Formats: sequence, structure tokens, C-alpha cells
Amino acid sequence: MSSEGAVAEVGLIGLGTMGGNLALNIAENGFQIAVYNRTAEKTDQFMAKAGELAERLVPSKDLEDFVGSIKKPRAVILMVPAGEAVDAQIEALRPLLDETDLIIDAGNANYHDTNRRAEEAARRGPRFMGIGVSGGEEGARFGPSIMAGGASDAWDQVGHILEAISAKYEGEPCAAHLGEAGAGHLVKTVHNGIEYADMQMIAEVYGVMRDGFGMPASEIGDVFETWNGGILQSYLIEISGKVAKANDPETGKPMLDIILDRAGQKGTGRWTAIEALMLGTPASTIEAAVAVRNMSSRLDERRAGQEEFGAAPRTMDRGAVSIDAMEAALVAGKIVCYAQGFGLILEAAKQYGWAMPLPEIARIWRNGCIIRSAMLNDMSAALADDPERNLMLAPFFSAKLKETEANLRLLVSQAALHGLPVPALSAALSYFDIMRTARSTANMLQGQRDFFGAHGFERTDKDGSGYHGPWAMG
Ligand SMILES: NC(=O)c1ccc[n+]([C@@H]2O[C@H](COP(=O)([O-])OP(=O)(O)OC[C@H]3O[C@@H](n4cnc5c(N)ncnc54)[C@H](OP(=O)(O)O)[C@@H]3O)[C@@H](O)[C@H]2O)c1
Repeated sequence: MSSEGAVAEVGLIGLGTMGGNLALNIAENGFQIAVYNRTAEKTDQFMAKAGELAERLVPSKDLEDFVGSIKKPRAVILMVPAGEAVDAQIEALRPLLDETDLIIDAGNANYHDTNRRAEEAARRGPRFMGIGVSGGEEGARFGPSIMAGGASDAWDQVGHILEAISAKYEGEPCAAHLGEAGAGHLVKTVHNGIEYADMQMIAEVYGVMRDGFGMPASEIGDVFETWNGGILQSYLIEISGKVAKANDPETGKPMLDIILDRAGQKGTGRWTAIEALMLGTPASTIEAAVAVRNMSSRLDERRAGQEEFGAAPRTMDRGAVSIDAMEAALVAGKIVCYAQGFGLILEAAKQYGWAMPLPEIARIWRNGCIIRSAMLNDMSAALADDPERNLMLAPFFSAKLKETEANLRLLVSQAALHGLPVPALSAALSYFDIMRTARSTANMLQGQRDFFGAHGFERTDKDGSGYHGPWAMG
């Protein structure tokens, strides 16, 4: 298709919450951008609100005109719901684009879909790239964290735009090319899995303060606010403080006390847990966080449970676990959770042969995304030192774990004694305990497996495998 007179350096389809904001961000960074939306009225509404940025926006109500307004080789960003909409949009674009053009899926795709689309693009063209974009609406508008996957020539074409629109951490762009095909979407998925676990662990200490100590929401908000000035400094701790301190404008009561305790999930947390299981790498803290969301949605069952068994004792002496101990417990939980998340990415990198530079991933998570936190800076340094090593063994983090694990243990044990559920923190503690145990209990599993299935085992005192126990002799 001809692009004579084309002015736009890039195009974007899907002017919803994310797409509209991303388009404005691209325009604000000085790029001419072509925009198109399935429902044409939305394009009008979008242009009407664009203000002076409108001069860098090239709207089209027809897909062919849209493609024609982009300079060759064209780059078209899709910001539509993950799944069928992406496939449908690619099919609609394929006859209009040249083989050398580039389609960039910027939604929350399942990375297996991105792998499939990349493979199909290699056979049929145009080129294809999958990028994970984190930071919600505000990130899209003012600077998200961007995790890119695809061929390096695709990154060469659009990397400068993605870096320009991304968040910056001390002047460095929070955008990077992480590997081929689905690498970017896999990293975005793990980011979201970590986000689930980070949020869940915060909710668990909130539960101890609310139900164990009987603290009002605003007082809990003060605790989060204080923590945000220390090692736990992060976007999620910051907003948890704000959420805890807010009042409902309608009733004047703490907003948190009015919000129904039923949490949904859009899929990326679950995908992380599924991938961890498929790749055979432990992500128990993230898995626990996903399971708790599922339990939260079973409100009627939980109510029936309370009716049947009564509420757990819950009330806890404030001296049982200090606020400082809880902060330390969260630090320990967080280190374990990230160790699991980076371990998962490392395993996927090996499986798929993707570059997946772990220090770079920690670096681009330092700003723009939902899990941005002070600790990621130290994680980036630790991973640069040795990306293959379990993060909890990096000297900085092993020292932190040595300082904090007793508090994690105290919190988990006191919570258990008082019937306060802390599943993600407890999964983190179990992971820590298992990963510092040279002699585990899997010898019993191996004995059982050999007994019922003649699976054979290795011995501690001899080389080789396939040994059997005396039960095999009749
Ligand atoms: N919201 C977030 O915080 C966030 C954060 C990171 C990533 N994401 C991801 O970003 C993507 C977009 O999310 P969003 O929140 O911006 O969604 P949204 O506000 O619902 O907007 C969806 C956009 O996609 C278009 N669309 C829907 N179905 C389509 C189809 N079959 N063909 C063509 N266009 C279609 C819609 O056009 P119409 O106007 O015609 O309906 C609309 O412009 C998703 O993959 C989402 O998971 C969202």
C-alpha cells in the first residue's frame, strides 16, 4: 500500500484507557502518531480532548487511511484487549501492510500467544513484536515501564520511541529489549505475578493489624506511610497507606471498611503460577496470592464457614509482634517473592533461549510500573553481580534475610496461633526454610515412589541411580 504523503512516525489502534493515554504520551514526546479506533466516535472524543497535542495526532476513521498515514517501514501499536481482538486486528492489517512493516502488541497478551503470533509473522509477515506495558492509566500517559520482546531489528526500529515515552529512573529509561518473541510478555506476566504477591503480603499484615490488634484503618495507614519512608519504600506501600487513610465521601466511614472483601483477577497472576508449574520452578508466594484471590471470591462459602466453625480467636496482644517486626517480616517476604519471580524468568530464558537480562529487568521495574520500589535498585545490582544465583544468596539480600527471617517466623507463627491467615508470607517462610535445608525430606518421597512404583532412587553413599529398597525383594 502506498504511503505517499505519510507523516506519522508510528500508528496506534485502540483508543481505550491505555491506548488513548499512550498515544498522548507518544505525541507529547514529539512524535507524529496516527490513531485509529474501531468505534469512530471514540476517535472524535479523543481528538476533542487532545488539546495542543492534536497537531501531532493524525486521526483516521478508515483502517486503510490510517495505514496510509504512517511512514514506511510502518510500526503499528495495538492497544486492544488481549486474545481474539489482537488476532482479528492483525488479520485486518495484514493485507494493508508490507512484510517489512511492524505490528506491536502492547496489551497484556499471554506470552504463548505472542510466541505463536511471532512465528506466524515470520512465515506470513508483517514483522511482530510483543511489549508488556505496566503502570496503568497514569503510566501510559506519563511514562510506563516497557518490557519488549521480538527480533532485535524490530527494537532497532521503535526502541527510541519506546525509550522516550517510558518512565525514567535517574534519567535512565525504564524500557528495554529482553529477548525474542514472547520474552517481553512473559516478563510482564511475572511482573504481574509479583504484583499479586506484593499486594497480598501487604494485605496480610493489614489483616494482623486490623483483626489481631484491632487498629483502625487510619492508624494502619500511618504505619504504611512510615514504612514508605524506609526500606519498603514502594508504590504499593504508598498507595496502601493512602487507601487505608481515605474516608468514604458517602458515609464518612473509612473507605476500606466499606469495600467488599472479594477480589477479582484478570489472568496474569494466574498465568505466572501456571508457568511456574509448567517450567518446574518454585513460585509458591505468587501461587498463594493467586489462590487467596480465588478464595476471596467465595464469599458465601466463607460466610458458611464462619457460621459452622466460628471466627478464629484473632485478637492478639500488641506485644506479640511489634510493628517493626512486621516491617521486617514484609522485607523477608518480599526478597523471597522476587527471588522466585526472577528464578522463573531465568528458567523461561533457558527454556526458550531468550536473552532475558535479569539486571536490566530489575532496572526497568524501578519506575513506571506497579511494583516499582527502592529495593529493585539493589536487586538490579545483585543480579548484575551474578544473574544465575538465587537472589536470596546475593550478599546484600542474604544479609537482609538474616536480619529479618526471625521476624517473618514470629509473624507467621503468631498469626497461625491466632487464626489470622497469612498464606503468602507463610509460603515465603517455607520456601526460605526449604532453600536453606541441605537434607530435605524428599528421601521419604523417593522411598514411597520406589515402594509403589519401583521408580528407583539415588543413594547418598554411592554414585548412580536406579537403586531400590528392600521392599522390592518380595
Ligand atoms: N487498564 C490497565 O491498567 C492496563 C494496564 C496494562 C495493560 N493493560 C492492557 O492493555 C490492553 C487495553 O486495555 P484498556 O484498559 O485500554 O482497555 P479498554 O479501555 O477497554 O479499551 C479497549 C480498546 O480496544 C478496542 N477494542 C476492543 N475490542 C476490539 C476488537 N475486537 N477489535 C478492535 N478493537 C477493539 C476498543 O475499541 P472500541 O472503542 O471500539 O470498543 C478500545 O479502544 C489490554 O490488553 C489490557 O490488559 C491494561
